[in-house]
Amino acid sequence: MILYNDPHRHNQYYQQEIKQAVNDVLNSSHYILAHHVNCFETEFAQYLQVKHSIGVASGTDALHLSLLALDIGLGDEVIVPSHTAVATVAAIKLVGATPVFVDIDKTFCTLNPRQIHNAITKQTKAIIVVHLYGSPADMQALLNIAQQYQLELIEDCAQATGARYQGQAIGSIGTLGCFSFYPTKTLGGIGDGGAISCNNTELANRIRSLRQYGWDSQHISHEVGLNSRLDELQAAILRVKLRHLDSDNQMRIQLAQNYTQAFTDLPIDIIQVQEGASHVYHLYVIIVPQRDALVKHLKKANIIAGVHYPIPVHKMPAFTASLTHQHLNITEKMAAQVLSLPLYVGLSNTEQTKVINSVREFFTSF
Ligand SMILES: Cc1ncc(COP(=O)(O)O)c(C=O)c1O
Repeated sequence: MILYNDPHRHNQYYQQEIKQAVNDVLNSSHYILAHHVNCFETEFAQYLQVKHSIGVASGTDALHLSLLALDIGLGDEVIVPSHTAVATVAAIKLVGATPVFVDIDKTFCTLNPRQIHNAITKQTKAIIVVHLYGSPADMQALLNIAQQYQLELIEDCAQATGARYQGQAIGSIGTLGCFSFYPTKTLGGIGDGGAISCNNTELANRIRSLRQYGWDSQHISHEVGLNSRLDELQAAILRVKLRHLDSDNQMRIQLAQNYTQAFTDLPIDIIQVQEGASHVYHLYVIIVPQRDALVKHLKKANIIAGVHYPIPVHKMPAFTASLTHQHLNITEKMAAQVLSLPLYVGLSNTEQTKVINSVREFFTSF
């Protein structure tokens, strides 16, 4: 069976280093917000070239805490794509604000800057941009809009740790960057985890307080906060994985290139990469009108493809009351046609060849 993602295979590469990291935590007597979290935060901030990185419990919490720290809440609107993981939008609802859906671009599958202007109202406070599948969005255009309308630009980097845009790490460009370390992500732990990156010290201090009951250094709460701390075990493991992140992402890029080359003569559309950006291929996504038939065909060959995402967030019952000022035509087309092929660190050449042959067989059998 070939899965579209297999974090165990990835972690096998670093088994000895990971075991050492876990033992190190076990043998210490500090399991929460101690040595490894401090070191990880410093190392991750250095990696991104930002002033601050704050470890939190998940990517969802990173988004939630970011919105809280920016004082976004009831009565405020936040522009967001619907073609994303539900967590991106859930965070907006969790602070009581209103998600305003804007369509994506058909070439890049990320927020379409040209569609944003007519979604902005007096209530709009922020844009959450998602670097979907590992591919940076059109940050220059989004920065221009954010500046023009004085909006906060929050980067959802959950799927794109290690990707770059015009020489800058994603997560270092907007007001705040939100990361997920869910096991399948490009930088994945062995459990849940997340981080927020930023260059604003006041904002960073507020997030540090909000992730722990709103406490100050004397454990006095000045506002109501969450319990959302990255734990020592995950931090120790993430320190190991961070050391290998760039070379791991190179392996992903190589696997993606193999697919792209193998499919040049097939009627398959591939997500394009913004000029000056690097895509780190958390997922290798193809666009095919016969998607569901291809999923079935691959399954018969024991290849399990993924679909990210079959139901756009605006069509889910929890989110139907959200606002949209436009038809989300591209979003709805993508929901019907996107397919994620197996790609992870540890996928062998033999396995990839099997996937390629099975995809080719599908198209030549028409
Ligand atoms: C784009 C995006 N945003 C946010 C999240 C939420 O991250 P987590 O699962 O760590 O809460 C995810 C993870 O699925 C994601 O893919």
